[in-house]
Amino acid sequence: MCGIVGYVGRRPCRDLLVAGLEKLEYRGYDSAGIAVLEGDRVETVRAVGNLANLRSAVEERVGEGGVAVADPPATTGIAHTRWATHGRVTEENAHPHSDCSGRIQIALNGIVENHHDLRPRLEAEGHTFSSETDAEIVAHLIELHYDGDLTAAVRATAADLRGHYAFVAMHADEPELLVGARKECPLIVGLGDDESFLASAIPAFMAETRRTMFVEEGEIVTIDPSGATITDGDGTPIERDTEEVTWNEDAAEKGGYDTFMLKEIHEQPEAVAETVGDRVTPEGTIDLSDVELSDEYLCEISRIVIVACGTSYHAGLIGRYAIEEWARVPVEMDVASEYRYRNPVVGPSDLVIGVSQSGETADTLAAMRLAREAGAKVLAVTNVMGSQATRDSDAVLYTRAGPEISVASTKTFVSQAAAMYLLGLRIAQLRETLSAERVAELANELRGMPDRIAETLARVEEPVAEIAKRHYKQGFFLYLGRHIGLPICLEGALKLKEISYIPTDAYAAGEMKHGPIALLDESTPAICVATDSPVLDKVLSNIEECRVRGADVVAVATEGNEAVAKVSEETIFIPRTDWILQPILAILPLQLFAYCIARLNDLNVDQPRNLAKTVTVE
Ligand code: F6R
Repeated sequence: MCGIVGYVGRRPCRDLLVAGLEKLEYRGYDSAGIAVLEGDRVETVRAVGNLANLRSAVEERVGEGGVAVADPPATTGIAHTRWATHGRVTEENAHPHSDCSGRIQIALNGIVENHHDLRPRLEAEGHTFSSETDAEIVAHLIELHYDGDLTAAVRATAADLRGHYAFVAMHADEPELLVGARKECPLIVGLGDDESFLASAIPAFMAETRRTMFVEEGEIVTIDPSGATITDGDGTPIERDTEEVTWNEDAAEKGGYDTFMLKEIHEQPEAVAETVGDRVTPEGTIDLSDVELSDEYLCEISRIVIVACGTSYHAGLIGRYAIEEWARVPVEMDVASEYRYRNPVVGPSDLVIGVSQSGETADTLAAMRLAREAGAKVLAVTNVMGSQATRDSDAVLYTRAGPEISVASTKTFVSQAAAMYLLGLRIAQLRETLSAERVAELANELRGMPDRIAETLARVEEPVAEIAKRHYKQGFFLYLGRHIGLPICLEGALKLKEISYIPTDAYAAGEMKHGPIALLDESTPAICVATDSPVLDKVLSNIEECRVRGADVVAVATEGNEAVAKVSEETIFIPRTDWILQPILAILPLQLFAYCIARLNDLNVDQPRNLAKTVTVE
């Protein structure tokens, strides 16, 4: 995810800002930039790639007398690391962005969802844009509203924006001042002696000060060297206590969590919000205009083939159920390493979707290439701009989950599932296989999913930890589910085996009687996904089959379905949503279950044995 750091004080800020960005490097980024203010002069330096490139770009200004290297040095500035979501990875698209005059600079995290509406409006009023980003709109809106008071202009700008974001702005007319606003994305003040920081995460300023102040939802914050003033959307001042950070450096890098995996589990609401974001319109339709597949083409596809590996394969499976259910297009699914070697029947009437977080997995890339050579259109569903998958495809649907550091994928899975749902709904909308009302209902539920995810995590974390304590010494776990519950079983079982090294098996529950039932006895915990679905009754029968063989059933069920709790030893309830969207919530307790079991067994969950983050060799 992107990172923001701002400084205003008495010290030279350039190196402080870059040092702050370094502390946010763990979040991942593909370009970076700083804007500093010295006297009346503003200067922005941006670079694609890592912070070493940014440092070199700054050094190049030495001979040119740039502000970034000026004497006396600048003491007010903002900086940003960008993880591309809107617009390619280029220097022009890196932040900070400026207004037409270059006197206003902003750095933004998140998404401005109504950028499609705002940009033409601003262009019609004479504003000229220099990047492809949604973020630049914020600089121009501030320019539009500015009347000598940056705080007021930022407040008016925030009122124009829809989406989830945090941004910080500075204006050459008001040196020694930074103003920030936030909605859903974090923004934190760091208070030092005669200096203040404003950042998207505490590590950015923790080496300088541990005195913090949290900016809450919808608030505007103004910082100067003497401190911070917080106001609400109407300009009413808000009292806010300061808090002392007690984390150590290692915890800070992980946002206060013990491991990257846990941090990423908790980033899932944000990951899905980014994926869905501006793709669901306020009217409840799906807008996939960022994906270069024409409406005519989507209306005509006769078959979809999904290829992927590991967790991405499981997300693809959810896509198969959703696309077939909603859009009535036949979908085939294959493990990429099988597909590429089995001489598949594929051709120009097929859409082949390669799902890959990294966009660099060798088998998935090979499967995509094979399909393309056979004349099929290829869509990459990936998280990484500029990855090989984006170059080996005709169109790209970005998942926008932010960089994943932990080897075990978590936020990737939910954002890939969300992307597949968006695609299924878009095709259904175009082919009119669902009514406009039904599309709107599902689209709005998808839009509300980040809140449901946050609610689920808060609700299940403790009970799951308790259940894990009872089972962490087990030598085997069987996962069972049907229909949309099946990909969740497969993914839950993969999570547990890869980070805890405990053998697991995951089965379509209807297959149980054809063999796997032999595994069941009093020592086998059976993890059953029994959320709402057209086959819930059948899953209940499967649970009974497990119980009569003495197995301990741990069920994941939709809240209110007491029938599941009656037949299971332990039941974890997740909030009710439309049944077909339940997988996004059902996976959460299973991720946490795997996590707790591995931690109780003292294992390094971020770097499991024998596994690498990206499998680029064949
Ligand atoms: C499991 C996991 C892997 C990946 C797989 C595909 O937690 O991370 O199974 O899902 O290696 O990787 P991508 O999605 O990068 O192609």
